[in-house]
Amino acid sequence: MTDIFLRACFGKPVERTPVWIMRQAGRYLPEYREIRAQHDFWTVCRTPELAARVTLQPVERLGVDAAILFSDILVSLPAMGLPVAFRPGPSIAQPVRTRSQVEALRVPSPPDDLSFVLDAIRLLRKELAGRVPLIGFGGAPLTLAAYMVDGAGGKGFPALRTLLYDDPATARRLLDHLVEAQGLFLEAQIEAGAQAVQIFDTWAGLLSPDLYKTFALEPAARLVERLRRPGVPVIYYLRDAAHLLEAVGRCGADVISVEEKIPLSRAARLIGPGPALQGNLDSAALLASHDVIERLVSEVLDDVPKDRGHVFNLGHGILPQTPVESASFLVETVRRRSRRPDPAGDVATRASRGPSNG
Ligand code: CP3
Repeated sequence: MTDIFLRACFGKPVERTPVWIMRQAGRYLPEYREIRAQHDFWTVCRTPELAARVTLQPVERLGVDAAILFSDILVSLPAMGLPVAFRPGPSIAQPVRTRSQVEALRVPSPPDDLSFVLDAIRLLRKELAGRVPLIGFGGAPLTLAAYMVDGAGGKGFPALRTLLYDDPATARRLLDHLVEAQGLFLEAQIEAGAQAVQIFDTWAGLLSPDLYKTFALEPAARLVERLRRPGVPVIYYLRDAAHLLEAVGRCGADVISVEEKIPLSRAARLIGPGPALQGNLDSAALLASHDVIERLVSEVLDDVPKDRGHVFNLGHGILPQTPVESASFLVETVRRRSRRPDPAGDVATRASRGPSNG
């Protein structure tokens, strides 16, 4: 395995820290806005040529070390029978609250219902031609359930939390359905050519540790287990979750993506030995001066324990008002400041225990 992003995900030695940016294809890029001026968001997601073009924009513009498929965690919902509108936040007209609504949900067949995602992946592997690996992704069961039950985001998902207390059996049934649906979807993405997968559990941090273990971690761990393939790292993302990090290692992912509010050294102690870390510059840092970006990047790099794999990223998605040249400066700064004279000296001990397929 020669690629530095994949090696860092498995905690193997790297000559410098790989970097990519969550939501790296997005509204801060003029070339993305140009495409969005002609096509709505769902059309871009559902047209493989457009999705592929947008995916490549940050690879070409910024020189990031991984491409992430342009799509959305909510693409699987319409295929389950739940149409989603963006205005501009996601909105579902018929939220799922009862047992019979859960029973009525379809399990999408990826080659039939989500072929646009698989076609975009195949197209991208050709166009990338090995330049950087391609990350596929999907929503974690609990996070998709949050949108399905509440019907919209942003307000703490009270209907979901109520369902967990009021009718845990229905909640479990919904989560089981999502483990199956997302398992099939992410397996299909890997088969189509995704070289890593990221599972977004964006809203798991809303839960107490007990609720988290039952309703978010357990289904996420089952999903991760299904996706285990030699050489294909699984990244698990969560935020506002400092209170959950002691449990999160049990999800079984190769990489845990950590938000900006917790230093990586502390996250590493709480998570325990094993997974590599991804993160965790504050997205707002990219609105500051280059001097500030440089200092904050160095703080993140210096804080990572030497025996851990690390993939540099933001703690959350890049903000739409970010100047493009600050995003470029970030990538350049991580490359310059993380260069190691002797990569083998660093994480050699862990590497010798890494997967043998490398
Ligand atoms: O990282 C990437 O570049 C890949 C693309 C990507 C998008 N969404 C594109 C997008 C990824 C990985 C996602 C994941 C996603 N989508 C999450 C989990 C990660 C996170 O941000 O916490 C969630 C919760 C969603 C759901 C979603 N999609 C919301 C809440 C919104 C509206 C808010 C917003 O940012 O406008 C979206 C729309 C969305 N998804 C946009 C993009 C680029 C903006 C659409 C546009 O107007 O062009």
